Amino acid sequence: EKGGYPHFMLKEIFEQPDCIHDCMRGRINVDADNVVLSAVIDNKERLLSAKRFIIVACGTSWHAGLIGKQLIESFCRIPVEVEYASEFRYRDPVINEQDVVIAISQSGETADTLAAVELAKSRGAFIYGICNAIGSSIPRATHTGSYIHVGPEIGVASTKAFTGQVTVLAMLALTLAKEKGTIDERYYLSVVRELNQIPEKMKEVLKLNDKLAELSKTFTYAHNFIYLGRGYSYPVALEGALKLKEISYIHAEGYPAAEMKHGPIALIDAEMPVVVIATQNALYEKVLSNIQEIKARKGRVIAFVTKGDTVISQIADCSIELPETIECLNPLITTVPLQLLAYHIAVCKGMDVDQPRNLAKSVTVE
Ligand code: M6R
Repeated sequence: EKGGYPHFMLKEIFEQPDCIHDCMRGRINVDADNVVLSAVIDNKERLLSAKRFIIVACGTSWHAGLIGKQLIESFCRIPVEVEYASEFRYRDPVINEQDVVIAISQSGETADTLAAVELAKSRGAFIYGICNAIGSSIPRATHTGSYIHVGPEIGVASTKAFTGQVTVLAMLALTLAKEKGTIDERYYLSVVRELNQIPEKMKEVLKLNDKLAELSKTFTYAHNFIYLGRGYSYPVALEGALKLKEISYIHAEGYPAAEMKHGPIALIDAEMPVVVIATQNALYEKVLSNIQEIKARKGRVIAFVTKGDTVISQIADCSIELPETIECLNPLITTVPLQLLAYHIAVCKGMDVDQPRNLAKSVTVE
């Protein structure tokens, strides 16, 4: 049932090109020039009249929510807040009929996310679910939603659900932006075309598996890791750190790279591995100088860069080249090697990656 893979987690990482393809099936047309999420079209008036969106989720789904915020704000010009469901439900939040709540959950059974949905519903908000498990409790409690259609996820560490959630959020933002007229037609086309290319590019990334397995051996000594990224890569840094914590039991922190100088840089020494997502984007030069600051303190930099980058490879201890993509879809590419890195480090340490200690696949109690 693991399809020849030693663990479900590795199988699910490798399934991602097919999963993303399935997730887009029937939603992006064959010419790859139009995307339609039917739930968005069916509830157009309600969504377009919203004063703001609030995304509620936990764990990895919350990280997908942070990317969703950037996508929706940038394409649709609607303010978006992202909340931990567990905090939102106990905070007596300001929420009313003019709000749309997006609940993201792989299992559709997370107790805190479900309670956040019920609370928001009782205050008159419109609830849109982004879930994987068909017919689970959260989709049943929401007004509408879109399934991510990535198939059952067995590994406790969420992998393909995350990329599926980001894909649906991108399609939601694109569908809504087109209806709202807030997205430039050429830019819209370039994002849809690029989204359609993601499965092929993910296949390219998966070819790095052996290289990442080899690299992982060097890091089993570490007790701490730092993950850095900016913009769309900041949530990816958080997600990479969470994957490592969950399955290898190495303490890891994700940070927006520029926050380093406000405290965490004090942790850097020759023992500290720092994973930096440093692909080509508007903030590339800034991330480059963040890397220089880390190297000046002798940190060990593992950089994920865009193919052809010759600058960072000179400075970083190790640089891994990834296929180029449009900035807003970069998380769909950069997340994959971080999943593999966490997986291989955990395997090198002899950990049970599919059933890590103290964790359950669905957190149905608070
Ligand atoms: O099923 P959900 O997406 O609601 O689950 C939320 C979190 O419990 C989940 O993402 C958790 O953080 C994973 N173990 C992360 O790999």
